[in-house]
Amino acid sequence: MPTIVISLGGSILFPGIDRPNIIPYISVLTRISAKNRLFVVVGGGGTARDYISLARTFGADEAFSDEIGIMVTRLNATMLVGALGCAAYPQVILNHNDALCAAESGKIVVMGGITPGQTTDAVAAVLAERVHASLFINLTAVDGIYSADPRKDPTAKRYEKMTATELLKVVIDQHAVAGVNTVMDIVAVKMIERCGIPLLVMDGKDPSLLEKTLETGKYVGTLVSSDGENPFPLKN
Ligand code: UTP
Repeated sequence: MPTIVISLGGSILFPGIDRPNIIPYISVLTRISAKNRLFVVVGGGGTARDYISLARTFGADEAFSDEIGIMVTRLNATMLVGALGCAAYPQVILNHNDALCAAESGKIVVMGGITPGQTTDAVAAVLAERVHASLFINLTAVDGIYSADPRKDPTAKRYEKMTATELLKVVIDQHAVAGVNTVMDIVAVKMIERCGIPLLVMDGKDPSLLEKTLETGKYVGTLVSSDGENPFPLKN
Protein backbone atom coordinates (compact mmCIF):
# COMPACT_ATOMS: atom_id res chain seq x y z
CA MET A 1 0.00 0.00 0.00
CA PRO A 2 1.19 3.60 -0.57
CA THR A 3 2.92 5.42 2.28
CA ILE A 4 1.78 8.94 3.19
CA VAL A 5 3.43 11.35 5.63
CA ILE A 6 1.31 14.27 6.78
CA SER A 7 2.63 17.38 8.53
CA LEU A 8 -0.42 18.62 10.39
CA GLY A 9 -0.02 22.19 11.63
CA GLY A 10 -0.87 22.77 15.27
CA SER A 11 -2.84 25.84 14.23
CA ILE A 12 -5.11 23.51 12.20
CA LEU A 13 -5.75 20.84 14.80
CA PHE A 14 -5.52 23.07 17.87
CA PRO A 15 -6.62 26.62 17.06
CA GLY A 16 -7.84 26.34 20.65
CA ILE A 17 -7.87 23.36 23.00
CA ASP A 18 -11.21 22.06 21.86
CA ARG A 19 -12.98 19.12 20.19
CA PRO A 20 -14.53 20.54 16.97
CA ASN A 21 -11.33 20.68 14.90
CA ILE A 22 -10.10 17.26 16.02
CA ILE A 23 -13.32 15.29 15.52
CA PRO A 24 -13.50 15.41 11.68
CA TYR A 25 -9.84 14.45 11.50
CA ILE A 26 -10.43 11.24 13.47
CA SER A 27 -12.67 9.64 10.84
CA VAL A 28 -10.72 11.04 7.86
CA LEU A 29 -7.32 9.83 9.13
CA THR A 30 -8.78 6.45 10.13
CA ARG A 31 -10.26 5.95 6.65
CA ILE A 32 -7.04 7.05 4.92
CA SER A 33 -5.03 4.61 7.05
CA ALA A 34 -7.21 1.70 5.88
CA LYS A 35 -5.76 2.15 2.38
CA ASN A 36 -2.35 3.69 3.12
CA ARG A 37 0.54 3.36 5.55
CA LEU A 38 0.02 6.63 7.40
CA PHE A 39 2.35 8.83 9.48
CA VAL A 40 1.19 12.11 11.02
CA VAL A 41 3.52 14.75 12.50
CA VAL A 42 1.66 17.26 14.68
CA GLY A 43 2.77 20.89 15.15
CA GLY A 44 2.66 23.17 18.18
CA GLY A 45 0.32 25.90 16.90
CA GLY A 46 -0.65 28.96 18.93
CA THR A 47 -0.05 27.21 22.26
CA ALA A 48 3.62 26.66 21.38
CA ARG A 49 3.94 30.30 20.32
CA ASP A 50 2.30 31.49 23.60
CA TYR A 51 4.72 29.42 25.70
CA ILE A 52 7.70 30.55 23.64
CA SER A 53 6.70 34.24 23.97
CA LEU A 54 6.36 33.84 27.74
CA ALA A 55 9.76 32.11 27.99
CA ARG A 56 11.38 34.97 26.05
CA THR A 57 10.11 37.50 28.61
CA PHE A 58 12.32 35.63 31.13
CA GLY A 59 15.30 35.89 28.78
CA ALA A 60 15.12 32.35 27.38
CA ASP A 61 17.43 31.77 24.41
CA GLU A 62 16.10 30.43 21.10
CA ALA A 63 17.28 26.84 21.65
CA PHE A 64 15.54 26.71 25.04
CA SER A 65 12.42 28.18 23.42
CA ASP A 66 12.60 25.47 20.75
CA GLU A 67 12.65 22.83 23.54
CA ILE A 68 9.44 24.33 24.91
CA GLY A 69 7.93 24.26 21.39
CA ILE A 70 8.87 20.59 21.04
CA MET A 71 7.13 19.74 24.31
CA VAL A 72 3.93 21.40 23.07
CA THR A 73 4.08 19.54 19.73
CA ARG A 74 4.39 16.28 21.67
CA LEU A 75 1.49 17.24 23.91
CA ASN A 76 -0.65 17.96 20.84
CA ALA A 77 0.52 14.70 19.27
CA THR A 78 -0.43 12.83 22.44
CA MET A 79 -3.91 14.32 22.29
CA LEU A 80 -4.27 13.14 18.69
CA VAL A 81 -3.16 9.63 19.68
CA GLY A 82 -5.83 9.65 22.39
CA ALA A 83 -8.47 10.94 19.99
CA LEU A 84 -7.64 8.32 17.34
CA GLY A 85 -7.94 5.53 19.91
CA CYS A 86 -7.18 2.07 18.55
CA ALA A 87 -6.55 3.45 15.03
CA ALA A 88 -3.25 4.92 16.26
CA TYR A 89 -0.05 3.37 17.58
CA PRO A 90 -0.58 4.03 21.29
CA GLN A 91 2.46 6.22 21.89
CA VAL A 92 3.95 9.39 20.39
CA ILE A 93 7.12 8.36 18.56
CA LEU A 94 10.31 10.25 19.42
CA ASN A 95 12.63 9.32 16.55
CA HIS A 96 12.46 8.25 12.91
CA ASN A 97 13.73 4.69 13.39
CA ASP A 98 11.08 3.99 16.03
CA ALA A 99 8.47 5.36 13.59
CA LEU A 100 9.47 2.67 11.09
CA CYS A 101 9.12 -0.03 13.75
CA ALA A 102 5.77 1.34 14.98
CA ALA A 103 4.40 1.25 11.41
CA GLU A 104 4.70 -2.54 11.52
CA SER A 105 1.59 -2.42 13.73
CA GLY A 106 -0.43 -1.21 10.72
CA LYS A 107 -1.72 1.68 12.81
CA ILE A 108 -1.37 5.43 12.31
CA VAL A 109 2.05 6.52 13.61
CA VAL A 110 2.04 9.94 15.31
CA MET A 111 5.06 12.15 16.03
CA GLY A 112 5.70 15.69 17.28
CA GLY A 113 8.96 17.64 17.25
CA ILE A 114 12.32 16.04 17.91
CA THR A 115 15.21 18.47 17.85
CA PRO A 116 15.77 22.25 18.34
CA GLY A 117 16.43 24.54 15.37
CA GLN A 118 13.70 23.27 13.07
CA THR A 119 9.95 22.75 12.90
CA THR A 120 7.68 19.73 12.58
CA ASP A 121 7.72 20.23 8.77
CA ALA A 122 11.38 19.17 8.87
CA VAL A 123 10.57 16.20 11.12
CA ALA A 124 7.94 15.13 8.59
CA ALA A 125 10.24 15.65 5.57
CA VAL A 126 12.97 13.47 7.08
CA LEU A 127 10.33 10.92 7.99
CA ALA A 128 9.05 10.93 4.40
CA GLU A 129 12.55 10.06 3.19
CA ARG A 130 13.07 7.44 5.93
CA VAL A 131 9.81 5.58 5.24
CA HIS A 132 10.07 6.01 1.43
CA ALA A 133 6.80 7.90 1.29
CA SER A 134 4.83 8.03 -1.95
CA LEU A 135 3.57 11.47 -0.91
CA PHE A 136 4.35 14.11 1.72
CA ILE A 137 1.41 16.38 2.54
CA ASN A 138 1.72 19.65 4.42
CA LEU A 139 -1.64 20.71 5.86
CA THR A 140 -1.49 24.37 6.82
CA ALA A 141 -3.71 27.41 7.30
CA VAL A 142 -2.94 28.64 3.74
CA ASP A 143 -4.10 26.82 0.59
CA GLY A 144 -0.69 26.47 -1.01
CA ILE A 145 2.56 28.29 -1.68
CA TYR A 146 2.18 31.91 -2.80
CA SER A 147 4.54 34.35 -4.45
CA ALA A 148 4.06 36.57 -1.35
CA ASP A 149 2.10 36.30 1.92
CA PRO A 150 -1.55 36.30 0.67
CA ARG A 151 -2.71 37.62 4.06
CA LYS A 152 -0.64 40.78 3.51
CA ASP A 153 -0.39 41.10 -0.28
CA PRO A 154 -3.64 40.83 -2.33
CA THR A 155 -1.64 40.49 -5.57
CA ALA A 156 0.09 37.32 -4.31
CA LYS A 157 -0.29 34.39 -6.73
CA ARG A 158 -0.62 30.74 -5.76
CA TYR A 159 1.71 28.31 -7.51
CA GLU A 160 -0.12 25.20 -8.72
CA LYS A 161 3.14 23.35 -9.39
CA MET A 162 6.78 24.08 -8.63
CA THR A 163 10.06 22.29 -8.05
CA ALA A 164 11.76 21.99 -4.65
CA THR A 165 14.57 24.20 -5.94
CA GLU A 166 12.01 26.91 -6.81
CA LEU A 167 10.43 26.53 -3.35
CA LEU A 168 13.86 26.90 -1.80
CA LYS A 169 14.14 30.36 -3.41
CA VAL A 170 10.78 31.31 -1.80
CA VAL A 171 11.80 30.20 1.73
CA ILE A 172 15.49 31.17 1.72
CA ASP A 173 14.93 34.63 3.26
CA GLN A 174 12.69 33.41 6.08
CA HIS A 175 13.76 34.26 9.61
CA ALA A 176 14.45 31.10 11.68
CA VAL A 177 13.53 31.72 15.32
CA ALA A 178 11.55 29.58 17.78
CA GLY A 179 7.83 29.55 17.12
CA VAL A 180 8.16 31.32 13.78
CA ASN A 181 5.18 30.97 11.42
CA THR A 182 6.60 30.57 7.92
CA VAL A 183 5.60 29.07 4.55
CA MET A 184 7.82 26.08 5.17
CA ASP A 185 10.94 25.25 7.09
CA ILE A 186 14.09 25.48 4.95
CA VAL A 187 15.37 22.17 6.38
CA ALA A 188 12.17 20.49 5.15
CA VAL A 189 12.57 21.97 1.66
CA LYS A 190 16.22 20.87 1.48
CA MET A 191 15.10 17.35 2.42
CA ILE A 192 12.47 17.14 -0.28
CA GLU A 193 14.90 18.57 -2.81
CA ARG A 194 17.32 15.78 -1.93
CA CYS A 195 14.88 12.86 -1.80
CA GLY A 196 12.57 13.95 -4.64
CA ILE A 197 9.42 12.83 -2.81
CA PRO A 198 6.42 14.86 -4.06
CA LEU A 199 5.05 17.38 -1.58
CA LEU A 200 1.50 18.66 -1.63
CA VAL A 201 0.87 21.86 0.33
CA MET A 202 -2.83 22.37 0.98
CA ASP A 203 -5.37 23.91 3.31
CA GLY A 204 -5.92 21.67 6.33
CA LYS A 205 -8.95 23.43 7.81
CA ASP A 206 -11.39 21.07 6.09
CA PRO A 207 -10.06 17.47 6.28
CA SER A 208 -12.65 16.24 3.77
CA LEU A 209 -10.60 18.09 1.10
CA LEU A 210 -7.67 15.87 1.96
CA GLU A 211 -9.74 12.73 1.58
CA LYS A 212 -11.20 13.93 -1.74
CA THR A 213 -7.74 14.75 -3.04
CA LEU A 214 -6.46 11.27 -2.24
CA GLU A 215 -9.52 9.69 -3.86
CA THR A 216 -9.65 11.78 -7.04
CA GLY A 217 -6.07 13.01 -7.47
CA LYS A 218 -7.45 16.53 -7.94
CA TYR A 219 -6.04 19.08 -5.55
CA VAL A 220 -6.35 22.73 -4.60
CA GLY A 221 -2.92 23.75 -3.40
CA THR A 222 0.68 23.53 -4.56
CA LEU A 223 2.37 20.39 -5.79
CA VAL A 224 6.12 20.45 -5.33
CA SER A 225 7.75 17.79 -7.45
CA SER A 226 11.10 17.46 -9.15
CA ASP A 227 9.74 15.91 -12.36
CA GLY A 228 6.48 17.93 -12.52
CA GLU A 229 4.53 14.67 -12.64
CA ASN A 230 1.23 14.33 -10.80
CA PRO A 231 1.84 11.58 -8.16
CA PHE A 232 -1.77 10.30 -8.34
CA PRO A 233 -2.81 7.51 -8.21
CA LEU A 234 -0.23 6.89 -5.50
CA LYS A 235 2.15 3.98 -6.01
CA ASN A 236 3.37 1.63 -3.28
P1 UTP B 1 5.95 23.95 14.63
O1 UTP B 1 6.40 25.24 14.03
O2 UTP B 1 6.29 22.74 13.90
O3 UTP B 1 4.43 24.08 14.91
O4 UTP B 1 6.52 23.79 16.09
P2 UTP B 1 3.26 24.25 13.83
O5 UTP B 1 2.03 23.97 14.56
O6 UTP B 1 3.60 23.45 12.62
O7 UTP B 1 3.23 25.69 13.37
P3 UTP B 1 1.96 26.27 12.60
O8 UTP B 1 0.94 26.60 13.61
O9 UTP B 1 1.48 25.27 11.63
O10 UTP B 1 2.58 27.45 11.93
C1 UTP B 1 6.46 24.85 17.04
C2 UTP B 1 7.86 25.24 17.48
O11 UTP B 1 8.50 24.13 18.17
C3 UTP B 1 9.90 24.13 17.92
C4 UTP B 1 10.17 25.36 17.03
O12 UTP B 1 10.48 26.47 17.86
C5 UTP B 1 8.83 25.56 16.34
O13 UTP B 1 8.67 26.87 15.86
N1 UTP B 1 10.30 22.85 17.28
C6 UTP B 1 9.39 22.01 16.73
C7 UTP B 1 11.65 22.50 17.27
O14 UTP B 1 12.52 23.25 17.75
N2 UTP B 1 12.02 21.29 16.75
C8 UTP B 1 11.12 20.43 16.19
O15 UTP B 1 11.53 19.33 15.75
C9 UTP B 1 9.78 20.81 16.18
